[in-house]
Amino acid sequence: MAESPLSVHDPNSEGSQDMKPSPQQQKQMEQAYAQMKRKMSMQEIGKKIKHKIMVLSGKGGVGKSTVSTGLALSLAQRGHSVGILDIDITGPNVPKMMGLDGRRLHVEEGRIHPAQGHLGVKVISMAFLLEDEDTPVVWRGPIKLGAIQQFIGDVEWGQLDYLIIDFPPGTSDEPLTVAQSLPDIDGMVIVTTPQDVALLDSRKSITFSESLKVPVLGVVENMSGYTIRGNGPSNSQVTISGPGGKSHNTTTDEEGNFSVTLDIFKEGGGKSTAEEFGVPFLGALPFDPGFVRGGDDGVHRIVSEPEGESAIAFSKVVESIMEQIGSSSGPGLEII
Ligand SMILES: Nc1ncnc2c1ncn2[C@@H]1O[C@H](COP(=O)(O)OP(=O)(O)O)[C@@H](O)[C@H]1O
Ligand SMILES: [Mg+2]
Repeated sequence: MAESPLSVHDPNSEGSQDMKPSPQQQKQMEQAYAQMKRKMSMQEIGKKIKHKIMVLSGKGGVGKSTVSTGLALSLAQRGHSVGILDIDITGPNVPKMMGLDGRRLHVEEGRIHPAQGHLGVKVISMAFLLEDEDTPVVWRGPIKLGAIQQFIGDVEWGQLDYLIIDFPPGTSDEPLTVAQSLPDIDGMVIVTTPQDVALLDSRKSITFSESLKVPVLGVVENMSGYTIRGNGPSNSQVTISGPGGKSHNTTTDEEGNFSVTLDIFKEGGGKSTAEEFGVPFLGALPFDPGFVRGGDDGVHRIVSEPEGESAIAFSKVVESIMEQIGSSSGPGLEII
C-alpha cells in the first residue's frame, strides 16, 4: 500500500518536530486516507459520466437485467458511449446477456477495467469476482456494501454518456449505497410486469425512491404483450382465441399476412401504476422468447435483431427516458 502522507503533529511540542503515531493510529489514518481518496475518485468518476440511471424493481424475475442490458444496447445503437454496472451479487446475469460469460476482473495499476460487451458497451459485474458461476456469493452486509463502493470508486470507465446500474430485486441497501456514493444520479427506472403482485412490488420501489432522494424517471412495463403472426387468404377475417378465451379479430393484408398482440398477463398494469403515482409511463416491452434464448446463448435480442419489434420498443423507451432527463436523442434509429 502507498505510504500515507499524513502524520500527527503535536502543537504543544517545541519546534516543528512530528510525533510518531502508534501502529493503530497509523492504520486508522491509512484507512481514512484510502476512504478520502476513494471519495474523491467517486466524485471524479461521477463527473466523467454524463448520465447515471438506476434500474430497479420490487420483485425478481420481472426482467430488470433484460431491461438494463436492453437500454444500454439501445443507447449504444444511437452512438452513445455506455456502461453497465451490475450490482447483483446473488444472481448476476448481465455478463451472460452481454456475451461476456466467464470473464474475470481485469485490474491494471490498481484500477479495475470494464470488459467490453456487445456494441462496445462497457460492463462491470459482481459476477467477474466469482470463482465459478455456480458458486453463490454469500457476503455479509458491510463487505457487500464495501465491494460496491470499491466498484464505483476504483473502476476506470473513461468518459461515458450513460451508465446503467442494474440492482438485485427488492429495496435493500444496495441502491442506497450507490445513491450515496455516486453524485448526480439522473433517476431510476422502475421495471414491472402487468401482473398484480409485480405491480404491488413496483409500488414499493416508487415509495422507496422518495427516501433515496433519487427521482423516478418512470415505469417500464415488461413482458407486456405477445405478438403472433400468421398468413391466410388476402383481405380475409381472422379470429384468434387468446388467453382467457378472449377473441381477437383482425384482417389479413394484401399478401395475406396478419399479426395480433395478445396480453398474456393483464393489460396496462404499468401504465396504471405510473398514473396512480403521478410518474411517467416510459413504455411497454413485448414478451419476446428471443430474450430467453439470448440469455442462454449470450447474444442479446437487440444484437440478434437490431431492427426487430423488441429493439424498436426499447428505442421508444430510451426516447421517453431521454425526454425525462432532458437530453437530446442523438442520431437515433429510424422508427417507422
Ligand atoms: N420481455 C421479455 N420477454 C420474454 N422473456 C423475458 C422478457 N424479459 C425478461 N425475460 C426473461 O425472464 C427471465 C428473468 O429476466 P431477468 O432480466 O433476469 O429478470 P430480473 O433481473 O428482474 O431478475 C429471463 O429468463 C429473461 O430472459
Ligand atoms: Mg437481474
